[in-house]
Amino acid sequence: MRLINILPLLPLSALGAPTDSDADQLDKRQVYGVTSKYCSTASGGLCYLQYFVSQNSPTYRIAIPSDATQNSAYDVVLQVIAPNALGWAGFAWGGSMINNPLTVVWPNGQSGQATASSRWANSRTLPTVYTGATLKTLSSSRNGTHWSVEVACTGCSKWNNRGLNLNGPSTFSWAFSTNQVQNPGNSGSSFAVHTSSGVFSQPLDYGKNTKTVFTNYINKKP
Ligand code: HEM
Ligand SMILES: *[C@@H]1O[C@H](CO)[C@@H](O)[C@H](O)[C@H]1NC(C)=O
Repeated sequence: MRLINILPLLPLSALGAPTDSDADQLDKRQVYGVTSKYCSTASGGLCYLQYFVSQNSPTYRIAIPSDATQNSAYDVVLQVIAPNALGWAGFAWGGSMINNPLTVVWPNGQSGQATASSRWANSRTLPTVYTGATLKTLSSSRNGTHWSVEVACTGCSKWNNRGLNLNGPSTFSWAFSTNQVQNPGNSGSSFAVHTSSGVFSQPLDYGKNTKTVFTNYINKKP
């Protein structure tokens, strides 16, 4: 049929493929997702850069203080909302499995408790515990469909001579597994390789918060 001949000339958007106005900045490994600004009254007005791929993947939300400066140490907040089918979910602050801080979270039992683990990988094998970043669990929960964990991280904004980009897009990556970790109550637990992983790039602007809002939020929690 003749129509087929013109299809390659059409922009992808005409075929309903996902588009992104920042497409030329995207990493080749990019997994299409939807980024947006998410603000929560339950979080004292805290706003996050939210990244959503699909109902079967975790949603990741990142918040930072607006007075943060490039390559300096400042606390960051990460919220992960995962379908109950997932055993663990990981977030890589520099966009790669290796050579950047990894924050890995998983549920611990059926009652909403969770474990957060700071990790680092020098190779693509089980990441080891990373003491260069420390995590404080702000909240965790579980219902019939999802488990969720929110942490404040000290040490995830900068590492070696790199850090989150505050002057343009930051590249993050994520991974998760449908298998549970070996010892859910232990932040040093081993676990098996991801069943899915991906990358996205986005400026952190959506997740910037006044210092007061940010500090009040991370300090009011246990
Ligand atoms: C037992 C633990 C793990 C093992 C054995 C493992 C192994 C691997 C291997 C072999 C690859 C390259 C092949 C591929 O692309 O599939 C890979 C890629 C990847 N892994 Fe892991 N991984 C583990 C945990 C993690 C964790 C906790 C994260 C946290 C975010 C992570 C993030 C990624 C990402 C984003 C990629 C693709 C991009 C890249 O290579 O940086 N992995 N992993
Ligand atoms: C279950 O928990 C998730 C994450 O907190 C939330 O987004 C969702 O609305 C909750 N579902 C119900 C039915 O309460």
